Amino acid sequence: MTTDPVEPILSARGLHKSFGRTPALNGASLVLQPGESVAITGPSGSGKSTLLHCLAGVVRADSGIVTFRGTRLDELTTDDRTRLRRVSFGLVLQFGQLVPELSAVENVALPLLLEGRPRAEAAASALQWLERLEVGQVAGSRSLAMSGGEAQRVAIARALVTSPDIVFADEPTGALDTVTGELALDVLVKAIKETGAALVLVTHDNRVAAVADREVVLRDGVVEDETDHPGAAG
Ligand SMILES: Nc1ncnc2c1ncn2[C@@H]1O[C@H](COP(=O)(O)OP(=O)(O)O)[C@@H](O)[C@H]1O
Ligand SMILES: [Mg+2]
Repeated sequence: MTTDPVEPILSARGLHKSFGRTPALNGASLVLQPGESVAITGPSGSGKSTLLHCLAGVVRADSGIVTFRGTRLDELTTDDRTRLRRVSFGLVLQFGQLVPELSAVENVALPLLLEGRPRAEAAASALQWLERLEVGQVAGSRSLAMSGGEAQRVAIARALVTSPDIVFADEPTGALDTVTGELALDVLVKAIKETGAALVLVTHDNRVAAVADREVVLRDGVVEDETDHPGAAG
């Protein structure tokens, strides 16, 4: 493990965000190093999801700055930001958010097809990721025909297929039972370690947070506490 200072891959400073009169972020800051995994924890309503959405460029903060490799997300054109999200970021949400009309392999291939990759090549990569996540058997199935655990692993495969620099996961095991959730989390952590991707993991579950290198605790939209997990899995 190196102690050399590295340029952060992602940095957020003083983020404020309100929904109408409801404050969600109240000056939250966070710095992520390449390959690092950070768990964002805190009580329900503390701003975890809003912070993740701002970091991933899905939601724009009212004030404050988010930079990816030194470039401000808010200074990118909409097209460049969309492309950055598609290529450099992988997103796993609580309920997977697969396109129900598409099969598993089509869902996973989608980010590659949107990047203009040939259909056969995209399908082959998608299938590889499905097999790696041990859900190759549902490659031809639509999400309604899968179990929750299968659908969630398909969503994880979709987030990893572009070999993103950062994976953002919001309660990725929230909809799963304990055993299935542990399996999905294990696979996610292994995959990010193998590919060298950084991970931002939102969770209210201490056991889930424990897989991350570091934990950031939010309360009322600000970082209340930060702790290292020296013995984190991986
Ligand atoms: N789209 C939205 N519209 C209105 N209020 C929202 C929206 N998203 C979040 N909020 C509010 O912002 C606060 C923080 O929410 P959120 O980031 O979802 O917290 P957490 O993920 O920690 O539960 C809460 O009070 C929530 O009700
Ligand atoms: Mg949330």
